[in-house]
Amino acid sequence: MTDTYFVHPTAIIDDGCRIGAGTKIWHFSHLMSGCELGGSCNVGQNVVVSPGVKLGKNVKVQNNVSIYTGVICADDVFLGPSCVFTNVINPRSAINRQGEYQQTLVGQGASIGANATIICGNAIGAYAMIGAGAVVTKTVPPYALLVGNPARQIGWVGEYGHRIKFDEKGWATCPESGQKYQLEENKVHRVS
Ligand SMILES: CC(C)(COP(=O)(O)OP(=O)(O)OC[C@H]1O[C@@H](n2cnc3c(N)ncnc32)[C@H](O)[C@@H]1OP(=O)(O)O)[C@@H](O)C(=O)NCCC(=O)NCCS
Repeated sequence: MTDTYFVHPTAIIDDGCRIGAGTKIWHFSHLMSGCELGGSCNVGQNVVVSPGVKLGKNVKVQNNVSIYTGVICADDVFLGPSCVFTNVINPRSAINRQGEYQQTLVGQGASIGANATIICGNAIGAYAMIGAGAVVTKTVPPYALLVGNPARQIGWVGEYGHRIKFDEKGWATCPESGQKYQLEENKVHRVS
């Protein structure tokens, strides 16, 4: 325990990591050199955060996730248990591709379901929801709901994680929060 964040005694924090106040890092997890975590994050058990990864504030990382170099998560991102990032599109053991890492940006409030795989170079838009076990092979628009392998969009979700259904004028309301959304030119905007 430090003054500002918690590290379980079995976790390993390499030199040069920056960890925000209120963040908790649980059993057997490893933060590698130069990664940055915002405040109030929760890093579950057996998680690896590779060099240079950046996580915003209040990012929740469930057990058994490896977050590879090239991944950047904005605030309030949820990474489900055992979800998988990638950073090399055509790996070969005998060929060094360390200079070819591709970036994967995960937008504010987005959620990635258990066991989903994100093929590198495909940004996940803000508040998108990726279903359990999906394999994401394309860029995901904000507020989109995707499932399957390859992942296909089956609808839209609001910021509270509920499906939002648009009427013929392109308006929808979140059943929990009452937030209103508009769909224009296949893009979702929150309007209240
Ligand atoms: C994707 C998800 C959010 C959809 O929830 P939902 O809106 O309630 O969807 P429904 O259960 O109504 O399913 C809609 C359709 O999508 C299919 N579907 C739902 N989740 C799916 C998934 N993960 N992969 C493939 N298909 C899925 C359903 O079979 C259904 O198909 P049908 O219309 O042919 O019958 C949810 O199923 C999911 O995967 N959540 C992630 C859970 C998770 O990983 N949590 C981690 C924290 S523990």
